[in-house]
Amino acid sequence: MSDAIPDSLHLYAEKFSSKETRLLRKINRETNTQVPQANMLSGHLQGRFLSMISKMIKPAVILEIGTFVGYSALCLAEGLQENGILYTIDKNDELEERCRRYFHEAGMDKKIKLHQGNALDIIPAIPGPFDLVFIDADKPNYAAYFDLVIDKVRQGGILLADNVLYHGEILLPEDKQSHNAKAIAAFNKKISEDPRIDEVMLTMRDGLFLMMKK
Ligand SMILES: C[S@@+](CC[C@H](N)C(=O)[O-])C[C@H]1O[C@@H](n2cnc3c(N)ncnc32)[C@H](O)[C@@H]1O
Repeated sequence: MSDAIPDSLHLYAEKFSSKETRLLRKINRETNTQVPQANMLSGHLQGRFLSMISKMIKPAVILEIGTFVGYSALCLAEGLQENGILYTIDKNDELEERCRRYFHEAGMDKKIKLHQGNALDIIPAIPGPFDLVFIDADKPNYAAYFDLVIDKVRQGGILLADNVLYHGEILLPEDKQSHNAKAIAAFNKKISEDPRIDEVMLTMRDGLFLMMKK
């Protein structure tokens, strides 16, 4: 199954959205030619959305769970306050050098703190309060990530979770869903029932949950 929006409409939306910076375009291109599972990268349209949300909030502290090559971290960091900081976590140490190189090229290596390891172990050690959280790592742990961060998100703070339509698999009968799709379906139900947040599910790309802590 593919993403919710047909490729042609996705490309149309990209065409009429702000352009990627030169560096982001380079990261996008290099990832697609040099890195396995390049489809994990947020990409032009979602990247501009992350940047826009961050610029609207002007966060002091951002937490990202799932760095990959650092593309979304750089988009989110565009809205950081002058002395703001973005913590990002990834367990894949093979991409660490590449991430650090990109953060340095963006002049962001002081503002972006990359933590290498399992997010479940690292999140409790990162101080809040968070103004903005982006959940974009392994799907079976989305609910655990939400539980670990929610008390550290400030009132009015924003959370985003990626891939919540899981290529449309969330519509399949449960016995036909993959392990990841099942986890996402359970996460979506949990979020929709949580009284501490307001939420709207966006059908951008593979589905993006936008949540605000009340
Ligand atoms: C979808 S990619 C992130 C994409 C990135 N946020 C972007 O939009 O460009 C998911 C990343 O989560 C990482 N990951 C998966 N499980 C993890 C875990 N338990 N702890 C930390 N990182 C994890 C993977 O190594 C992978 O790089």
